[in-house]
Amino acid sequence: MLRRVVVTGASSGIGAATVRRFAELGWETVAVARREDRLRALAAETGAHPVVCDVTDEAQVARLAAEVAETGGATGLVNNAGGALGTESVEQSSNDDWRRMFEVNVIGLRTVTAALLPVLRDGARSTGWASILNLTSTAGHDAYPGGGGYNAAKYAAHAVTNVLRLELAGEPIRVMELAPGLVHTEEFTLNRLRGDAAAAAKPYVDVEPLQAEDVARVLVGAFEQPPHVNQDLIVLRPVAQSSVFHTHRGALAPKGE
Ligand SMILES: NC(=O)c1ccc[n+]([C@@H]2O[C@H](COP(=O)([O-])OP(=O)(O)OC[C@H]3O[C@@H](n4cnc5c(N)ncnc54)[C@H](OP(=O)(O)O)[C@@H]3O)[C@@H](O)[C@H]2O)c1
Repeated sequence: MLRRVVVTGASSGIGAATVRRFAELGWETVAVARREDRLRALAAETGAHPVVCDVTDEAQVARLAAEVAETGGATGLVNNAGGALGTESVEQSSNDDWRRMFEVNVIGLRTVTAALLPVLRDGARSTGWASILNLTSTAGHDAYPGGGGYNAAKYAAHAVTNVLRLELAGEPIRVMELAPGLVHTEEFTLNRLRGDAAAAAKPYVDVEPLQAEDVARVLVGAFEQPPHVNQDLIVLRPVAQSSVFHTHRGALAPKGE
């Protein structure tokens, strides 16, 4: 049975770990991002089919969909490409940052999903099923000061996921959302804080965050469920983070003696 999945944002962090995990379990993968050198290295390691594509560019996404169809089709899509820019308040933040966050986290997700749906339907016709999973964030479920454009974009991605599930009702295509909390990836916070490495290290001090591999294990686990099982929404946090506002720093220990 065809088990081939397209993963966007595969050149680093959660996306790269997801491609590795799928490959470990015998899935074929299509690894998508803008940085070709990183995709080529991942392809050499995992056997992924690399496609250089900016998900915010409709012509490039149309070429991606054609290439996926021509090289074997797909039964899965992981919309993972995304990120945050800035921690300024609503009052102080810049519309350019907001536009860039919406372009990649929301409009990119829609563009890739729309372009790949016919390919996924073909996959579902030949295998019986197809799956879509959108990477949102706990920032798509709880607002926090300084979250501004990222909160708004991930809330939107959450809403789009729910709309899509309703619109695909009656088709054998499950639509899932994975919303992680604090994940220590190499680039996410560094990009958000515009390259300030010292500031970017702070959220991960004295706490055991999720690693990209933790997210990938759970994500791929959702694809590995029997195909009629739809995990609508998976919220995944480190034990030390009980909400976006509560991160325990220091050792965890049972209460009492
Ligand atoms: N890290 C966290 O704490 C955390 C928590 C919750 C949710 N998330 C979400 O999880 C996803 C992955 O995060 P991460 O931590 O793995 O971040 P990351 O390491 O910064 O990875 C982001 C990926 O997206 C790709 N990308 C960005 N813009 C793109 C575009 N226009 N077209 C195609 N690819 C693009 C990047 O590759 P190129 O630059 O090569 O294109 C990169 O591979 C994101 O959606 C993020 O919002 C992260």
